[in-house]
Amino acid sequence: MLKARRMTGAEAGSVSLVRRRGGRRWLEVVSIQNDTARPRRSAVLTSLDAKSISGYVASTGEVVNIADAAEPALGRTHAFDMAADQPGTYRSHSVLCFPFSNLEGEVLGIIQLVNRRTGTEGPILPFAPEHAELIRPIDHVIGRAVERAEMVERIARQNAKLRLQNRELESRRRQVAGLQAQTEDAFLLSIRLLAKAADLHDDDTGNHIQRVNEYSYVLASKLGMPEDFCDEIRYSAQLHDVGKMSVDAAVLKKRGKLTETERIEMDRHPEYGYQILRQSPRLGMAAEIALCHHEKWDGTGYPNRLKGDEIPIAARIVQVADVYDALRDSRPYKKDFDHDHARRVILSGDDRLDAAGHFDPRIAAVFAANHADFDRIWRELHD
Ligand SMILES: [Fe+2]
Repeated sequence: MLKARRMTGAEAGSVSLVRRRGGRRWLEVVSIQNDTARPRRSAVLTSLDAKSISGYVASTGEVVNIADAAEPALGRTHAFDMAADQPGTYRSHSVLCFPFSNLEGEVLGIIQLVNRRTGTEGPILPFAPEHAELIRPIDHVIGRAVERAEMVERIARQNAKLRLQNRELESRRRQVAGLQAQTEDAFLLSIRLLAKAADLHDDDTGNHIQRVNEYSYVLASKLGMPEDFCDEIRYSAQLHDVGKMSVDAAVLKKRGKLTETERIEMDRHPEYGYQILRQSPRLGMAAEIALCHHEKWDGTGYPNRLKGDEIPIAARIVQVADVYDALRDSRPYKKDFDHDHARRVILSGDDRLDAAGHFDPRIAAVFAANHADFDRIWRELHD
């Protein structure tokens, strides 16, 4: 607009764009320049019809050049109206109004030049026909620039909307992650309490279940088991004896030798545990550990006399962990062993335990290579 005013000597000018509002097309003033008065925004929306110069130009696509326009007979000229010192006082003025359009010829807006003068104090002169011709060639250039600016504005608006949506998604993702963490904590606490309850039923053996978790985790990691497996065995191992909750308390707490019937009842605790734990998919590993932690590598264990690789690996790991801890602890039928003694029993056996027949040799080897970790866990979590 400034360029057009300089080319023609117009004292004022305005740019209006065609907008769609409420299913209709309107002209909206987006820029006003005036050398002799401070622009004043008033009528910002003009309908596209012959009631105003700008509306007429926008609706017909014609150039209008009027030497002696006067309000209100020929309608409003934005630049003049908004610059008027005294609203409602009309004076005659010259107007050159031309449209700009896109390549398809659709009018995108208008530029209105008002009051051609040779100097600020000079008389108002009409615009010459060649002034309109000077501007005509840049019509499409302006149109393209406006289209591009509108596109950039639209993209910026969409980007801002997307950024907002992303922020909302991120905040919801955090909420969900927080809830998942709470659920996970609640799950871990529940099974810890379940394992503890079983332990209390079976004469509280202090931190036994926690230590079995940690030994099992060390063995699984050193065996090279996947991370998920290691994490799962770390909370599943503690549930290996949960089935003891279902064993008759008189049998469970009996001091001295069990009768044959009592022994059979006692040896059912793996199956009882399995029945409790198999109900949750999250406790699948815990269920198979509970069922198989008394099986033996040579097939002489119970309840199903599984042999070698038939025994789930998680159960084979917990066997070593459970036996080591029992050896370190004092029980009614034995005194506590020191680490070296317990290590020898696991690796070579004694008069009560046939190590070769009991343990998976691969896991026994991992124990032999990492036995110091077992002693450390015992000391750290000793009651
Ligand atoms: Fe057991």
